[in-house]
Amino acid sequence: MIDIGRVRSQLPDHEIYWHSTIGSTMTEASRLATAGCESGTIVGADEQTAGQGRYGRVWHSEPGAGLYVSIVLRNPFPADALPVVTLALGLAAGEAILKASDVSCDLRWPNDVLIQSRKCAGILTQLEGSAIIAGIGINVNHAAFPDELSAIATSLRMVTGRVHSRERLLVELVSSVTSFCSLLEKEGREPILAMFSRASSFVYGRRVYVDQGDAMLQGTTAGLDPSGFLVLRGDDGKQNVIIAGGVRPCS
Ligand code: BTN
Repeated sequence: MIDIGRVRSQLPDHEIYWHSTIGSTMTEASRLATAGCESGTIVGADEQTAGQGRYGRVWHSEPGAGLYVSIVLRNPFPADALPVVTLALGLAAGEAILKASDVSCDLRWPNDVLIQSRKCAGILTQLEGSAIIAGIGINVNHAAFPDELSAIATSLRMVTGRVHSRERLLVELVSSVTSFCSLLEKEGREPILAMFSRASSFVYGRRVYVDQGDAMLQGTTAGLDPSGFLVLRGDDGKQNVIIAGGVRPCS
């Protein structure tokens, strides 16, 4: 069980609801948002029994091994800012991991946090009325993953060979989320787009395929558009703006 008292003392401005086990922190954070909770309210759990990933996937939430949190954001972002908020959350997760564990991450558009090309953290954003629910899962102290994930997932422990403090990581994560969101609020999208482009090896000149469920696109990445969508130059030279889809390197 996380030492939530220690976390609370370092995040005095945040209401924190911590659960030893929960279905999904997303559901509970949405419920609290609907009930009018304050911006910055955090719902976290040591274990999720129905952790939600993107596209209806399950988020593997081993008890006591990862950080599973949803943060309610009520920043006055314009309604169409959600894609850039997602990028800002990826930057925040990468910054928090670097500060807490000294490990550098790559960011795969839109919101996968990778270490050595394997996924170490994922982000799920949902709208609940005018609030954004920012769901962040970080693989911290997993010693191994189930067979179906072992080739694509990693944890901070697996890459560093040591156990990491989830308390320290949570404090860094919330601080980074707060500062990237206030940067977006004050300075607009441009700095986030520029920082994400610098932090991600996937934004420019990467041969990728994009799984869109009903279609598979292939091409070379050519930057982000002003909304935060990925630009893909097809082999026919035509540019596609990718609004959603799973981006994977060609080799
Ligand atoms: C992804 O598919 O990459 C997104 C994963 C998001 C997982 C986090 S864990 C905390 C929060 N609660 C959930 O059920 N999902 C998000």
